[in-house]
Amino acid sequence: MKGKRGHTILLGGIGGDSHSVGLSILRQSLLMNQYKVHYLGTQNRLEDFLQVAGLANVVMISSMDGHSRYYLRDFPKLSRERNFAQTLWYLGGNLHVGNGSGSERYFREQGFNQVFEKFVDIDTVLQALERDLNDVTPMPECASIIGELEASRIYLSAPVSDDTLPPDVFERSRREVLESWKTGYRAKDLHANAEFLGRQPSFAAAQALVNAGRAPSLIQPRAGVPFLNKQLALFKAFKRFGVRVLSYQVDSLTRNNNYAGVQEALGENGLAGNMTINGFPVVNHGVPGLQKIISEVGVPLQTRHSTRDPRLLAEISYAGGVTSFEGGAICYNVPYYKNYPLDESIRAWQYVDRLTSLYCERFGIRLDREFFGTLTATLIPPSLAIVVNILEAILAIRQGVKCVSLGYAEQGNRIQDVAAMRMLRKLAEDIIARLGYHDVQVNTVFQQYMAAFPESQVRAEELIYESAITASLSGATRTVVKTPVEASGIPSLEDNLRGVSLAMSGAAAAAQTPIDEEQVAEECDVIRQEVEAIFESVLLCGRGSIGEGIVEGFRRGFLDIPFSPSIYNRGAVMTARDRDGAVRFLSCGNLQLGRELQEFHRNKMNERRHAEARLSEKQNYLLVERDVLQIPRGLYERWPLFGSEIRDVVVSSRR
Ligand code: 5AD
Repeated sequence: MKGKRGHTILLGGIGGDSHSVGLSILRQSLLMNQYKVHYLGTQNRLEDFLQVAGLANVVMISSMDGHSRYYLRDFPKLSRERNFAQTLWYLGGNLHVGNGSGSERYFREQGFNQVFEKFVDIDTVLQALERDLNDVTPMPECASIIGELEASRIYLSAPVSDDTLPPDVFERSRREVLESWKTGYRAKDLHANAEFLGRQPSFAAAQALVNAGRAPSLIQPRAGVPFLNKQLALFKAFKRFGVRVLSYQVDSLTRNNNYAGVQEALGENGLAGNMTINGFPVVNHGVPGLQKIISEVGVPLQTRHSTRDPRLLAEISYAGGVTSFEGGAICYNVPYYKNYPLDESIRAWQYVDRLTSLYCERFGIRLDREFFGTLTATLIPPSLAIVVNILEAILAIRQGVKCVSLGYAEQGNRIQDVAAMRMLRKLAEDIIARLGYHDVQVNTVFQQYMAAFPESQVRAEELIYESAITASLSGATRTVVKTPVEASGIPSLEDNLRGVSLAMSGAAAAAQTPIDEEQVAEECDVIRQEVEAIFESVLLCGRGSIGEGIVEGFRRGFLDIPFSPSIYNRGAVMTARDRDGAVRFLSCGNLQLGRELQEFHRNKMNERRHAEARLSEKQNYLLVERDVLQIPRGLYERWPLFGSEIRDVVVSSRR
């Protein structure tokens, strides 16, 4: 048997990247193969590995965002200094941005023993380990030393209020925020910013037209490149193609507030060495850069990111003419960060929300705030996505925000996805109205499948087309599209235009695509009950405060997001697909779902176990692994997984 002598493996992700699905699965399979695993989770520095590397037979570093050369630039020097005679070093993930290769040789020369440049399956890794450790003596047990170095769970006790930030508190933070990097001062004068911003095309207005039925649903591509002129060229090409809203993806150094790193990577006047960055570094380009873009493009613009401290990014975005800003205290924390306390992220996002609403209160500019209901993207049950959207929307509305966009990522069963999107709007509108707010614009955003994408381009194209049909049937205000090269790298302009064009054809085909409204209604009913149960449990444990409810809810496991890297998330909830590909709870953890709902999910999963290999409940892990790999490997007949074959019922109309 592999690993039978208990070799020790230190496993973790490096850099800002948050992808934790692959790491969770690798960890489980190493444990199942009798290795001792010390798991560092995501977002470690090289130093975190070096500290304990001497105690491990193998150090396995995962680097997912294409910045490995940057994160590991000091590896040869530091590892030589420490002289780890007995430690083997493995590196894997997505080692570079784009299609270039050569990373394997590069990192081997830097001192790595095994380098997996792109995706490999777990067996390949297990076989390499077996060969390399064949006559190596296992390290002695030293769990306690490593344990001490691992992050502990800390809960802060300062209560979180939902009240509008008092002006003095806001102003004090604002000074600090704007001074935190040299480009900040250009965003200082709110009047001057508003004067510019008020003249720019509005994201909220574009969406209002769609909601009123006066314009077709919006199709939004994703694009983010390091340099301003290239970004501008992309945007102009999208506009010529008929795209009516635009956004850039921000690079992951900026997302971790590492503006100095961006500066180093970009160099003074071009790309420094082999380093490149995986998106558009808004903060470094600053207010003048953004103003140039929006002035030349003239299409409503949004910032999409997942930044740890989003405050400076929001300041610069709005001052630069951006009219929609994505993110929230839960959706940009729990899926992305290992140790970001929720009360801290709530306060950071309250600042963003307050800034957003000041432009409305003082200058009449209605800016849009979007929430990333995608969460970890992987097997997310609709009810969790919806509750998170609603909680974040309420936090924003309490700060005075008047336009919210609620996001949901397609999971693959058309009935469930359509039901989810419709309930997202319905339940949010109901709850917002019940709280007494009647002047808030609610938009819905359908994100095409966000977990690991089909590697085959043909399948990717089918997915993008069919997914646009689902989006239309669901009544989405806007659809954020993928490209056929999602599985392999950052899309070129042509890839992106192909994605947009497939989505446009899909949207047009929706009118001829029937959907079984009865099944949709049944699914809506389940979602409604779940959302109400979870939402109520959060309200109760916050004793009236949504902010407190979120902190306490996560602590108790009343909110629990599958596959999250965060230590503030319990991680007791497990999800998998049922026989029809709908996402169900394999374990409800401590979600307050009530007996009937739990029973519903148990039955659905039993049906699947029965239909498949009669797996026992102890083998739940295998179901999850299968589901996670099913789409990238193309182990399915067609997209959507279920719900495209119905031919006997009414064509659904958009809201
Ligand atoms: N350009 C285009 N798309 C990007 N994405 C991330 N970075 C970029 C970029 N620089 C897309 C990917 C990812 C999603 C969050 O955004 O599809 O899954």
